[in-house]
Amino acid sequence: MTKQHKSIAIDGPSGAGKSTLAKALAEALGYLYVDTGAIYRTVGLQACRTGTDPTDPAAVMALLERLQIRLEHGKDGLQHMYLNGEDVSQAIRQHEISAYASAVSAIPQVRAFLLAQQRRLAEEHDVVMDGRDIGTVVLPDADVKIFLTAAPEARARRRWLELKQRGQERAYETVLRDVLERDDRDTHRAAAPLRQAEDAVLADTTDKDLEQSLALLIQIAKERLQA
Ligand code: DC
Repeated sequence: MTKQHKSIAIDGPSGAGKSTLAKALAEALGYLYVDTGAIYRTVGLQACRTGTDPTDPAAVMALLERLQIRLEHGKDGLQHMYLNGEDVSQAIRQHEISAYASAVSAIPQVRAFLLAQQRRLAEEHDVVMDGRDIGTVVLPDADVKIFLTAAPEARARRRWLELKQRGQERAYETVLRDVLERDDRDTHRAAAPLRQAEDAVLADTTDKDLEQSLALLIQIAKERLQA
């Protein structure tokens, strides 16, 4: 079967600016933006709400089989996540949910369960999809693969600012520690660890502001799409 739609895979650690930049890139190209982390966050949210141990594969799978996760794009073009019919797009952004999402995402059965939904979106639309394993596992034939990263301190500073703007004040040191812990878990897990695909272009945003980073991504995407 020939591939009908274009796909751009953006992977990298948390706080590298993936979601903001992937969304802006999708807008610039007229593609659909898919934030796959939001799917793991939705599972994590349900584990948190039900007091389920997020590291227990059997318990999390039992949870997954009973819940309904929907990913929809509203008329505003924004992605919304629904958990058993409830719009949880805001709730999944709580700081506490990040650790739950990271834990459930380390379970191979959970990843396998969520794979088809992600691939289907790329079969039906031109997409910019961001996550940790998009270029390596979910869309190995993506037209463009970008590995977006930045120094941990720069990522922690951005995350700290983002939380502050949302009224969730945290000490910078705590945020940096969380970033390092999450990096460690995401890169050292056995199932689909975070790593740069061999054919991915590396984009480092440590010393770049949003505008400069976006210009870099647009340049990479256009070059690769024409190649
Ligand atoms: O991108 P994010 O921080 O919202 O992702 C939440 C967690 O989900 C993160 O710890 C890594 C995990 N994740 C993953 O394992 N695979 C993906 N494709 C996306 C996210």
